[in-house]
Amino acid sequence: MKRDFISLKDYSQAEILKLLDLAGKLKNKKLKSNILKGKTVGLIFQKPSNRTRVSFEVGVSELGGSCIYLGPEEINLGVRETTSDIAQTLSRYLGAIVARTFAHQDVLDLARYSTISVINGLSDLFHPCQALADILSIKEKFGTLKGLKLAYVGDGNNVCHSLMIAASKVGLHMKVATPKGYEPMKEIQTLAQSFAKQSGSRISVNNSAEAAVHNANVIYSDTWVSMGQEEETNKRLNDFKGFQINASLVKAASKDYIFMHCLPAHRGQEVTEEIIDGKHSIIFDQAENRLHTQKAILMFLFKK
Ligand code: CP
Ligand code: NVA
Repeated sequence: MKRDFISLKDYSQAEILKLLDLAGKLKNKKLKSNILKGKTVGLIFQKPSNRTRVSFEVGVSELGGSCIYLGPEEINLGVRETTSDIAQTLSRYLGAIVARTFAHQDVLDLARYSTISVINGLSDLFHPCQALADILSIKEKFGTLKGLKLAYVGDGNNVCHSLMIAASKVGLHMKVATPKGYEPMKEIQTLAQSFAKQSGSRISVNNSAEAAVHNANVIYSDTWVSMGQEEETNKRLNDFKGFQINASLVKAASKDYIFMHCLPAHRGQEVTEEIIDGKHSIIFDQAENRLHTQKAILMFLFKK
């Protein structure tokens, strides 16, 4: 049976820790692999990307394989032909698919109709590759994950959902603070609570940025306007006032807190320049770790 990488909810704690371990070994060059030799990975992207596209292209090449980028013009998912026909056709050529879509259902459909592994490179619901790189980044900084306090301040979006799943799987405490009406989806909250019961992590959602960052080891923020929400920009900029990560807010955090952001960032909106470019920020370690963790995911999926 083929395995996909669509959400960390489908991975056990042991598998997630194994992926982190593998990524660490790839990063410090204790491990090299040619596992993708002779294989081609298709990158279906309906939205723009810097980190995801480039880190996958580089990662696949470092593992001996090659990539074909299939942007919105080429594939036109579900419009030019059905997702099912695309998935079945591409399965005859490719070794795996990385898909960045608007609707999460498109990733699920690609996986359902493919005979090859499908990796979620960001959908409206989840961003699991990001969350895996993020927990590796946290583990590198603190040497552990269990018991640390992560404050996510901003939109209860795809990045927040995946972080909730990741945190609750590995025993990281997480407090989410969003404006009213922007909370993470109820189903994801319920799922995270069920994983948290097993791992011992505490997951909460409220509407106070101050309460979330209190004693936090990690402060995380993402854009207030995700791709596809551009028409809501004015309303969102207004609704998210008070949820900016700035010098005054971080005073309540633990002294050695780290600041994280999946990028792209908007200085002066969700975070001030002083914080994102300051000494607590680890944004480029996160970006780098996308490469190592995605190589680990590919090795895991291609291993016989
Ligand atoms: N963080 C992230 O996924 O970045 P890109 O949108 O540039 O791929
Ligand atoms: N929440 C953002 C993440 C970008 C990597 C978006 O969906 O646009």
